[in-house]
Amino acid sequence: MSLDLVPLMPAFGAEVRDLDLAADQPESVIDELKRALNQYSVLILRDQRLSEARHVELSRAFGPLMVHVLKQFLTTPYPEIYVLSNVAEDGKPIGNHKEGWNWHSDLSYVAEPSMGSLLHALEVPPEGADTLFASMHAAYEALPEETKERIRPLSAVHSYATYYAKAFPDREPLDETQRAKTPDIVHPIVRTHPETGRPSLYVGQDIVKEIVGLPFDESERLLAELNRHAIRSDFVYRHKWQANDLVIWDNRCTMHCATPYDDNRYRRVMHRTTVSGDRPF
Ligand code: SIN
Repeated sequence: MSLDLVPLMPAFGAEVRDLDLAADQPESVIDELKRALNQYSVLILRDQRLSEARHVELSRAFGPLMVHVLKQFLTTPYPEIYVLSNVAEDGKPIGNHKEGWNWHSDLSYVAEPSMGSLLHALEVPPEGADTLFASMHAAYEALPEETKERIRPLSAVHSYATYYAKAFPDREPLDETQRAKTPDIVHPIVRTHPETGRPSLYVGQDIVKEIVGLPFDESERLLAELNRHAIRSDFVYRHKWQANDLVIWDNRCTMHCATPYDDNRYRRVMHRTTVSGDRPF
């Protein structure tokens, strides 16, 4: 079988049609999905009625799964599923609200960041709450040659604590265990895709704190410039969610950003799994 792939943008992204991932699929189909992910970086699949068990099983086909440090937002009995939601039950939030409302690549703040994520929409607002995806291959390739040369040897500090304080200023800071699990970490600004060899820009808002070895002002200016460039409209796909959408993306060569919605009026419930990756190089 070969997948029915409809490209979304000239630079990246494809919709996979006529594939039901709730049903068991032969290894050949999973292999094709992995090949398509390497080629397109973001895959959209509509109308996927996945149970939590199937979501986890399917995600494991891409590699071992990571468990998020914010344990209060994990499902039972599947701690591999991290819930993103504005819904509260019995006075307790069932998921992390306003998570990822900044441009980032999932779990870039650990030594071996996630290779990819599978986000399944359970309930979505009728308006707002789109997710934007940007191709970091396209962003890198479009940089002027002198900028490429300048940034190729540079590394930057990724900091979960910095992101958390900026994203959730009204919450209690991370506790000691969470902080111990998420020390600041240094990654190259240009990384190489371990499967395709293609280079990409590896930056992000809020999580990327500073460029190693540059004076603070220069680091701020360069990060702002690279972050602005990375989300140029021709590198960005806007996903308008429908319930039961599954989006699979490659964190090694994309960034994404969730967008706001009327959270007093609408419910949003999303389940995300993140697949383990390698140390960026
Ligand atoms: C994320 O950053 O993984 C969440 C994206 C979203 O909620 O749309």
